[in-house]
Amino acid sequence: MDYLAFIEQQIAELRSTIGGNVAINALSGGVDSSVVTALGHRAVGDQLRTVFIDNALMREGEPQRIVEAFAGMGIPVELVDARRKFLAALKGLTDPEAKRQAITDTFYQDVFGELVRKTGAKFLLHGTILTDIEETVAGIKRQHNILAQLGIDPEKQYGYRVLEPLATLRKDGVREVAKVLGMPESIYRRIPFPGPALAARIVGEVTEERLATVRAATVVVEEELADSGAFQYLAVLLNDFTTGIRDGKREFGQIIVVRCIDSVDARTATAVEVPWGKLHRICERITSIPGVNRCLYDLTPKPPATVEYV
Ligand code: XMP
Repeated sequence: MDYLAFIEQQIAELRSTIGGNVAINALSGGVDSSVVTALGHRAVGDQLRTVFIDNALMREGEPQRIVEAFAGMGIPVELVDARRKFLAALKGLTDPEAKRQAITDTFYQDVFGELVRKTGAKFLLHGTILTDIEETVAGIKRQHNILAQLGIDPEKQYGYRVLEPLATLRKDGVREVAKVLGMPESIYRRIPFPGPALAARIVGEVTEERLATVRAATVVVEEELADSGAFQYLAVLLNDFTTGIRDGKREFGQIIVVRCIDSVDARTATAVEVPWGKLHRICERITSIPGVNRCLYDLTPKPPATVEYV
């Protein structure tokens, strides 16, 4: 594929569709929304307002890190603190689809809706890729970012039009586009991270406390597996308590699952043979997180499992 031609075509299309209007996009820091941000700014410059919504579900230090990285590329990103709203919407929910729905609704109707009204934006740029569409249409999972494919008209429902310039690409294609756009490696080499963020890695209720646990485990996994060359690695908090023993006393602790996979485009995946010594080190560090007394390594390929747990 000629990625340069793809880029030029998408920029031209965005420019003519957006015209003199204001467009808005939410940057998550993942490669998809990062590429959309760069394409959008090349197309319409300041007419595109890029926001980073802190939904309380982010990794350690992520909001600040992303805003700084884009400032380094000359792209201003506004940080919006919506942590309370998302936590309130997720309170008491345990069903995976209900959790995803709550995140979608809070994002589009509440937080984004308000920003759209404030900015007068007529267009929303979104980093939907082909795999998202295929899996949603196939009913495998409801990706949080699919609207039109589910028969939802965002113009009617939310008052803006969604533009998806990456809808014909898969993850490997998006990375190529990022490279051709001259984005830093720290962005296009990033491992994929789901839209629902750490909520996709908490089985059961998402609370501040449980987020802190999975966030701490994520720091460990990302540090320890950074040089693994794997497609993606993650930590998941299960919803069970198991018996353990600490300082000579019985304790009921939580369980963290570590997943490290090889994949080309996330449609299928296999578990990486992580060296035993590395797994021991990860286990030791994860079971030092308060309240966690068990650490498991997931060997399941996709299919039958998916990458994320929720
Ligand atoms: P699954 O869990 O569906 O994940 O096997 C496949 C790839 O997609 C990422 N993922 C998501 N990305 N919104 C996204 O933007 C989502 O709702 C979502 N769910 C999963 C996941 O991290 C993996 O790389």
